[in-house]
Amino acid sequence: MIPHDVNDLSLSDEGHRRVLWADADMPVLAQIRERFEKERPLEGVRMAACLHVTAETANLMRTLRAGGAEVRLCASNPLSTQDDAASALVEHFDVPVFACHGEDNDTYYRHIHQTIEHEPILTMDDGCDLVTTITRERQDLAGKMRAGMEETTTGVIRLRAMYADGMLPYPMIAVNDADTKHLFDNRYGTGQSTVDGIIRATDVLMAGRKVVAAGYGMCGRGFATRARGMGALVAVTEVSPLRALEAAMDGFYVMSMTEAARWGDLFCTLTGDRSVIRREHFELMRDNVYVANSGHFNVEIDLDVLEEMAKEKRVGVRANVDQYVLPDGRRINILAEGRLINLAAAEGHPASVMDMSFAVQALSTEYAVKNNLTLGVHSVPDEIDRTVAELKLAALGITIDKLTPEQERYLASWQEGT
Ligand SMILES: NC(=O)c1ccc[n+]([C@@H]2O[C@H](COP(=O)([O-])OP(=O)(O)OC[C@H]3O[C@@H](n4cnc5c(N)ncnc54)[C@H](O)[C@@H]3O)[C@@H](O)[C@H]2O)c1
Repeated sequence: MIPHDVNDLSLSDEGHRRVLWADADMPVLAQIRERFEKERPLEGVRMAACLHVTAETANLMRTLRAGGAEVRLCASNPLSTQDDAASALVEHFDVPVFACHGEDNDTYYRHIHQTIEHEPILTMDDGCDLVTTITRERQDLAGKMRAGMEETTTGVIRLRAMYADGMLPYPMIAVNDADTKHLFDNRYGTGQSTVDGIIRATDVLMAGRKVVAAGYGMCGRGFATRARGMGALVAVTEVSPLRALEAAMDGFYVMSMTEAARWGDLFCTLTGDRSVIRREHFELMRDNVYVANSGHFNVEIDLDVLEEMAKEKRVGVRANVDQYVLPDGRRINILAEGRLINLAAAEGHPASVMDMSFAVQALSTEYAVKNNLTLGVHSVPDEIDRTVAELKLAALGITIDKLTPEQERYLASWQEGT
């Protein structure tokens, strides 16, 4: 059997059904997979991927394999692995997977190391843990790498910081920054699945609830809009004047976290920043509030300080909910240990939106193999964005207009005026 470390191989048939179910809503990736099968652009390319191990990711792995890649997969978060999808990849699709839902920190990093044992020349990361591990502990591999792809905002920020510090080990492609990725995945995917995760974890009614969204970037605006769509009263907190203004003109309450802490019933951080909710905010919160995070790392809510403040911690008052009781009796419910709520308590982004993100990943991988990239953090070529948008529109049965020759001339000229 291929190398692997997954929780329960007996889940593989259920996982197989879920992978195929997701595939039916991923038509763009399916088309790329068909072409890859014929052209084999990744023949013999060894790859390591560190992504949320979900049914949608399984379809990306199938696509890379169809192109000829020898790919191994580990998790990019200890709570996001879907054990059935992980088993299906091993049993049904011959992909070595090292990921167990609920794994501890040591296992998480052991799995990253197992994913690079076959000496890959390409990496695909979601949050940069794979690249930082290679940089810190496997410099021998870094020199042989051709390129890496990065899936999320937080990862791209880290890669740019590494480049600025002269520490970037090999060329990278910022997949997150493609328009067909962040404008859709971060906004609609995170928006819907974050609401889904909060509801699955708590079963709260959103209508009439006072919801606080920290951060009004792509993820924050998606979440705020979806929560409002379900009847919640939504307040946004921000540190960027521009984003705060946008939120205000989009019709949200905008306030500081200090004000919001007194006002809100349910809080969700989506900033990519640390300690966004901290001691001074816990001190002001009402009894029995819910606090979740949907940003990449579990540092947005200061849980260490809450542990210190609480006189009691009721672990697992409900699946994915720990209740902290403060000395004055107020209860603060922390969802999914402050980890990505949409992946820990729900199924992550729906397949239809991952179709676009993973189409960008697959085409960027092909691009990285066919081109010699220089050291730096590269944008996804516009042509890939355009191709993915066109294929998605076609799959949705949407036709759009074409510029007439007269319009093309007009738009390229300056002579005509009033
Ligand atoms: N849950 C998921 O599945 C998922 C999906 C995509 C991205 N992400 C992650 O979500 C996070 C946000 O991603 P994004 O694409 O929206 O990023 P973004 O850069 O577009 O937006 C982040 C926003 O947070 C604001 N911010 C920063 N510090 C803040 C603070 N202390 N208080 C209030 N606002 C603050 C910034 O001004 C910015 O407007 C990242 O960590 C990203 O990796 C998660």
